[in-house]
Amino acid sequence: MFTKRISLLATAALTILCDASPTDTESLGRTVVPLRPRNPLTRADGVFDYDAAVIQSVATKNKHRQNLLNFQKNTGYLPAGFELKSIATVPSSVVSRRLHEEPLTDENQDIEWAGFITIGTPPQTFLIDFDTGSSDLWIPSAACNQTSCKTKRKYKSSASKTSKKENGTFSILYGDGSEVSGPIYVDSVSVAGVNVSGQWLSAVTVLSESFADEPVDGFGFYLSQNGSELTLGGEDPKRISGQIEYHKINNSTGFWQVTGGTIFANGKKVAGVSAFETIIDSGTTIAYGPTEAVAKVWKTVNGTLFDEEQGLYSFSCEKSPKFAFNWGGKNFTISSKNLNLGQTFNGSSQCIGSLAGADLGLGNDTWLLGDSFMKNVYTVFDSGKNEVGFANLS
Ligand SMILES: *[C@@H]1O[C@H](CO)[C@@H](O)[C@H](O)[C@H]1NC(C)=O
Ligand SMILES: *[C@@H]1O[C@H](CO)[C@@H](O)[C@H](O)[C@H]1NC(C)=O
Ligand SMILES: *[C@@H]1O[C@H](CO)[C@@H](O)[C@H](O)[C@H]1NC(C)=O
Ligand SMILES: *[C@@H]1O[C@H](CO)[C@@H](O)[C@H](O)[C@H]1NC(C)=O
Ligand SMILES: *[C@@H]1O[C@H](CO)[C@@H](O)[C@H](O)[C@H]1NC(C)=O
Ligand SMILES: *[C@@H]1O[C@H](CO)[C@@H](O)[C@H](O)[C@H]1NC(C)=O
Ligand SMILES: *[C@@H]1O[C@H](CO)[C@@H](O)[C@H](O)[C@H]1NC(C)=O
Ligand SMILES: *[C@@H]1O[C@H](CO)[C@@H](O)[C@H](O)[C@H]1NC(C)=O
Ligand SMILES: *[C@@H]1O[C@H](CO)[C@@H](O)[C@H](O)[C@H]1NC(C)=O
Ligand SMILES: *[C@@H]1O[C@H](CO)[C@@H](O)[C@H](O)[C@H]1NC(C)=O
Repeated sequence: MFTKRISLLATAALTILCDASPTDTESLGRTVVPLRPRNPLTRADGVFDYDAAVIQSVATKNKHRQNLLNFQKNTGYLPAGFELKSIATVPSSVVSRRLHEEPLTDENQDIEWAGFITIGTPPQTFLIDFDTGSSDLWIPSAACNQTSCKTKRKYKSSASKTSKKENGTFSILYGDGSEVSGPIYVDSVSVAGVNVSGQWLSAVTVLSESFADEPVDGFGFYLSQNGSELTLGGEDPKRISGQIEYHKINNSTGFWQVTGGTIFANGKKVAGVSAFETIIDSGTTIAYGPTEAVAKVWKTVNGTLFDEEQGLYSFSCEKSPKFAFNWGGKNFTISSKNLNLGQTFNGSSQCIGSLAGADLGLGNDTWLLGDSFMKNVYTVFDSGKNEVGFANLS
């Protein structure tokens, strides 16, 4: 995201990999952060967690709404075809079901590509979600006295000699009506040994309860203009198969957006769905496309509309369709495991797919590829060259 001139990382490769051992760190000479490989929308019994999916979908919609607001504030306009939707909210039925649910002991909803950063001089450490679909860096403030902040690491601006307060307040609204907000600072930020000075950030004093159980302290985009690179690996990043295929980003929207995507469904191009825009978003759990396009895709593989509101489709669990994305080079396929979000109910032969149709306000030709796609590939975000690279995992 470039909607705010937030950060400046110096020339260095910053690599965040998944499940790597200390030996890998040494041999690569890069910082390696272990990441979670599991799917948070599937319950332990293999059944699709509808309520969790609704909550995440609402969060995704509101995050992108906020991105558009930021874009509009910075440029005075919205990208062509984009529109500001109203704030999405979690239906009260879902809220009340969640309230009455037994908390599961192992339900650490670690849905992020998380890693450590330090802020300030001397450095204060935080675990943040590296969200390539977000334009803000925020961490809890030492002045946050809400219960949701209790278990978090907190930023103390007065303890950092490089911290400087800026005018204005940062605020983002989440689906349950709660918000994350606080004052804005600039300070030095260090990620994987790379130091950035003058990074904009918000030290939030208001933190929605929904973040209390998140393993991370805050969220951040942090890539910047000059030669910085973020690499997110899938299940086994040690083994990239073949070359990394690079694509210039479409910089008209401020997203990590690649033009000219196509989708193959079971090896066939889907008629009427081609040359679309794709936003690569590590902060989103599944993949979304425009409602009509996704309907066409599922139709070719006999998918059934499961939930119109959420744009979710089901398929025969035993015959998982193969969806592959292509930008003029290799095909990058979503594995059956990553496509399958679980049975529609316990004992069902139908399973929910991780490609949904939704209008996110991003234009009728823009897809949003989150974890369910990104877990299958090795993705490089290169802000120096303004490129996104993909490689197959072997
Ligand atoms: C980065 O900043 C930290 C804290 O300010 C400092 O200790 C470290 O030496 C710096 N590293 C580099 C590579 O400049
Ligand atoms: C919490 O902080 C706010 C301002 O940050 C303050 O107005 C309020 O009194 C504080 N509450 C408690 C219980 O300390
Ligand atoms: C903050 O606002 C004050 C008053 O409007 C202004 O004088 C000052 O220059 C602003 N500071 C920054 C860093 O923009
Ligand atoms: C980017 O880095 C190069 C080489 O270090 C430098 O010449 C150039 O001025 C930098 N550009 C910006 C925008 O910082
Ligand atoms: C870039 O994205 C915008 C908005 O999604 C789109 O209208 C435009 O056609 C794209 N540009 C190119 C060169 O594809
Ligand atoms: C967007 O890309 C075009 C062509 O690659 C380039 O000329 C332009 O400077 C870029 N704009 C920004 C804001 O990076
Ligand atoms: C991608 O998949 C399609 C459909 O299976 C196939 O026709 C095409 O040759 C594949 N492309 C590459 C580069 O493998
Ligand atoms: C979809 O259903 C039709 C009719 O039953 C069948 O001929 C076709 O093979 C099915 N396609 C897939 C991908 O299952
Ligand atoms: C799911 O169904 C199986 C049998 O099909 C049963 O053993 C199991 O207890 C059920 N689980 C739940 C959570 O209902
Ligand atoms: C998107 O909307 C525009 C304007 O309404 C229309 O011209 C265009 O054909 C639509 N594109 C798709 C892929 O539906």
